[in-house]
Amino acid sequence: MNHLNLLERLRRVESPNLVPSHETLFWLRALGSEVWDAEGKKYIDFSSGFGAASVGFSHPLLVSKIKTQSESLIHGLGDVYSSLPKLELMESIERLLGFSAKGILSSTGTEAVESSLKTAKIYTGKPRVIVFEGAYHGLGYGVLRSAGRKDFSELFLDQTADIFFRAPFPDNNKNLFDEVLAVIEKEFKRNDVGAVLLEPIQGRGGIRPFPDGFISELSKCVHDSGALLILDEVMTGFGRTGSLFAFQNEGIEPDVIALGKGMAGGLPISASFARAEIMDSWPKQELDSIHTSTFLGNPLCSAAALEVIGIIQKEKLHISAREKGKVIFDFLSDAVRENGWTLRGRGLMLGIDCKNSRDALRSAKIALDNGLIILVDGLVHETIVLLPALNISDKLLKEGLEILRDAIKQTSR
Ligand SMILES: Cc1ncc(COP(=O)(O)O)c(C=O)c1O
Repeated sequence: MNHLNLLERLRRVESPNLVPSHETLFWLRALGSEVWDAEGKKYIDFSSGFGAASVGFSHPLLVSKIKTQSESLIHGLGDVYSSLPKLELMESIERLLGFSAKGILSSTGTEAVESSLKTAKIYTGKPRVIVFEGAYHGLGYGVLRSAGRKDFSELFLDQTADIFFRAPFPDNNKNLFDEVLAVIEKEFKRNDVGAVLLEPIQGRGGIRPFPDGFISELSKCVHDSGALLILDEVMTGFGRTGSLFAFQNEGIEPDVIALGKGMAGGLPISASFARAEIMDSWPKQELDSIHTSTFLGNPLCSAAALEVIGIIQKEKLHISAREKGKVIFDFLSDAVRENGWTLRGRGLMLGIDCKNSRDALRSAKIALDNGLIILVDGLVHETIVLLPALNISDKLLKEGLEILRDAIKQTSR
């Protein structure tokens, strides 16, 4: 199968906004951290499908679980008649979080963030939400205006409510820590802010961690104001940053947390959990729920998520993410520094800020030609994003890093 022919066929049926304008490839199959394209070429994968294939593609335990669950109950009736996998998954997430919590399941990260926002509104009664410059919380109409990139929302401004106040990002280099907290405290004085929503490490904004200690200071200031702290751990959750959840690294507990992506190893499921007394502010179901969806608690996805959580815990993949992250830092630091670029992030959520899109895209293209899949993201596509599967083998990690280091060096020439 030829990629150009496939691309032509795709152009006829997919929205032009979604069909790649540049050279592309079609994935045929993937196993572990390797992908084969439709022309038979093999690649090492450092994307894990936007971080979703957290335990690698088609982990044998996950495949076996999907097979058995699909033979017994593939779909249920959401909130009307629940299923065992849904119940067990919710119990498992509560145990993992380590505090008394209740949740709402859904299918995508966007939905998880939007139900988190609804929960905060119901609990506090206050409509406005503080977000940070560079944020990405999904592209549904509810969260659209929170996006750090204007192009995501500018065509829809007349259809979306602006409930967001955008605080500056306290960039590590600029010593803005106190100034940003002061801006946020001033905003609280309006008395209509119900929540502060943030990614513990900004993902699509270019893998940007907050300065050390910022999130715990922010957490204090949010609680003093009576608002809720909503952590969007859609990308950072389930071991990605070297702990099961990124909040565990900050010495805080969120009031509400949104989860998704790596939760079921590539199947679409997401969750919003809140401290139990917060979630209890939702009205009790009478005849119907005021917030639900067709695939809520889908048994196949729930069983897959339970299996993935089991694999992460049994194989201690959050710990290996931490160790592998160190390997990447050691391997790439010199080459990155020589180009005047910056390597940042935590665990296996790392980004190389190339300062401009030309260099980031060039490195990614050279890497792809040499058999390595990496993503480029950031506010102006300036960041090479590294999100390998948590269980990538040492051998593939090293081979991929060699390709990437060569690509970085070639880009500087
Ligand atoms: C931090 C964060 N929140 C929310 C989302 C939206 O998730 P989804 O694309 O599954 O709707 C993403 C997606 O990249 C994300 O990175």
